[in-house]
Amino acid sequence: MDKKKTILSGVQPSGVMTIGNYIGAVRNWTQMQEDYNCLYMIVDLHAITVRQDPVKLRQRCMEFLALYLACGLDPSKSTLFFQSHVHQHAELSWALSTISYMGELSRMTQFKDKTKNKQDANIGVGLFTYPVLMAADILLYQADLVPVGIDQKQHLELTRNLAERFNHQFGDMFTVPEPYIPKIGAKITSLSDPLKKMSKSDENVNSFISVIDEPDVILRKFKRAVTDSGSEVKRGEGKEGIENLMSIMSAFTGKTFEDIEGEFQGKGYGDFKCAVAECVIDELTPVRERYYDYLKNKDYLQSVYKEGAERASYIASKTIKKVYRKLGFVDKL
Ligand code: TRP
Repeated sequence: MDKKKTILSGVQPSGVMTIGNYIGAVRNWTQMQEDYNCLYMIVDLHAITVRQDPVKLRQRCMEFLALYLACGLDPSKSTLFFQSHVHQHAELSWALSTISYMGELSRMTQFKDKTKNKQDANIGVGLFTYPVLMAADILLYQADLVPVGIDQKQHLELTRNLAERFNHQFGDMFTVPEPYIPKIGAKITSLSDPLKKMSKSDENVNSFISVIDEPDVILRKFKRAVTDSGSEVKRGEGKEGIENLMSIMSAFTGKTFEDIEGEFQGKGYGDFKCAVAECVIDELTPVRERYYDYLKNKDYLQSVYKEGAERASYIASKTIKKVYRKLGFVDKL
């Protein structure tokens, strides 16, 4: 019997994958493949809650899949798929929406942020029900653990509430998932404003490093990174920029902050920035090369997402059948 715990996570195919996403999410996922039963999806259904150019969306979905593979997600170990290929996500989302409350969804901070300056009359309903779809993603596979960033914790809390509410009303059905906070979870901030999270949708491209940035671009962006007016490579008040670069170096080399402070004692920011760039380039160069190889190999990508959808659908169809039975629908013949 498969006693491995199930891990599930998803990424929106929007913007580009930054080193923040890489360190904080995808690189950890590759390590978890050995110990868990993993499902990783590209959440295209979530992506359309904001307006998308269909041609670009389709292209980006393929690019994200190629990136997942290039970063080391292995389809022989993990289930990799597009959310829209498993129709049960939408079905379970509907069922869960009937036990979700207007009040709790109105309290979601992401919803409030995304609709801040808008009139009710033109706020898409999909933005409002977004967390219910996310709950469906997770509960459909009876996931035990969900690796998410801090910005998604509230959505996970809602998922737990919906799972418990359903179980309470209809009898035991769903595993109540736990958030999974990776042991080494360096928080990487923007290169142009070190107090802000590094975001893949930042308008200023100099504020983030994309996983597929060319070496000269990576070097240039690090050289321009905002630091303080001092010259010492160490942590401290007002030195968030340097500290962020130290976190990046630590995440890419395994060196501790103390190691880095020692190594760069007496050296200026210029040397340090070049060294940070170098270790990032060293790790990302093979990733970028594999990415372009995968992207060219459309047949292979298709075989990956086809098989992923088949595996995911098998589990999802079993869950939805049970859910429909609990809800009182007549069995489909
Ligand atoms: N909402 C998540 C985000 O924007 C993406 C997501 C969708 C997700 N479904 C999920 C994450 C299920 C974890 C599990 O980051």
